[in-house]
Amino acid sequence: MKVQVLPDSSAMSRKAAEMFSNFSNQYIEEKGRMAVAVSGGSTPIKLYSLLGSGNYKKQIDWRNMHFFLVDERFVPHDHSDSNYSVLRENLLSKIPIPPENIHTVRTELSSTPVAAAAYEEEIKDFFRVSGYGLPEFDLVILGIGEDGHTASLFPGSESLNEKNRLAIPVNDQAHNFPRITLTLPVINKAKNIIFLVSGERKAMIVKRVIENRDTSLPASLVHQEQGNLFFLLDKEAGLLLELPAELSF
Ligand code: 6PG
Repeated sequence: MKVQVLPDSSAMSRKAAEMFSNFSNQYIEEKGRMAVAVSGGSTPIKLYSLLGSGNYKKQIDWRNMHFFLVDERFVPHDHSDSNYSVLRENLLSKIPIPPENIHTVRTELSSTPVAAAAYEEEIKDFFRVSGYGLPEFDLVILGIGEDGHTASLFPGSESLNEKNRLAIPVNDQAHNFPRITLTLPVINKAKNIIFLVSGERKAMIVKRVIENRDTSLPASLVHQEQGNLFFLLDKEAGLLLELPAELSF
C-alpha cells in the first residue's frame, strides 16, 4: 500500500491525472491498449475534466484506451445520477475515443440481474476470459463512502462474499437506486488501484481503512495479491493519519 497526502483536492486530482497518463503510456506501449474501470461519485470529477483538457487530452492515446465502469446506478444513461453520464459529460465527450472502447452497463435492459449478466459477458469477451477466469484491469479508480463502502459494495452486504461472478446486481440496500457493481475478486485482480478520497468528513473512515484495516469496511477488503494499491488523499481526508514513512510515495 502506498499513500500520498496532497495539499488540496486539485493537487490530488493532478497527481491522479499524471499517474493515469503514465500508466497509459506504459500499457499502450507494452500491450497496445489499456483497460481502466472508473467510479462515480463526486471526487473523481476533477480528474476526469483534467484528462479531457489541455495536454492530457492531446497526449494520451485515447484510441487505445478502454473505459469500463466500476459500478453503475440502474437508471437511463442520460439520467443525472448515471455514472456513465457524468463520465461522458466530463471526459468522454471531449476526447477522440472510439465508441466501441466505452463499455457501459446496459441499464436499458429489463432488470439489474440481466444487466449485470450482460456486463459480465462484455468484460469476459474483452479480456477473453472463460470459466472462473478473472479479468486483469490495468487500472481501477475507487472512492470511499463515509460508511466505508467502495464501488457499490456496502458494509454487511452479501455481495462482499461473492467469489465467482464478475459483476452483480445490488438491490439489497436502502440506497437511492438499485445498482450493478464489479465484485471484489475482479477489483483485487487489478494491476493498479487508486483510491481518491477528499474532505474532512472522510478523515475517520480513511484512518479506519488505511491504518486499522478494519475488515468490516468494504474498502479495507480491497487489496491485491499482486499489484499496486495507491491512496491519494487531500489534506483534510488525511488529517487523522499517522503514517509510517515507508507508506508514502
Ligand atoms: C458511486 C461510487 C461510490 C463512490 C463513493 C464516494 O458510484 O457513487 O462508485 O463507491 O466512489 O460513494 O463518493 P464521493 O466521491 O461522492 O464521496
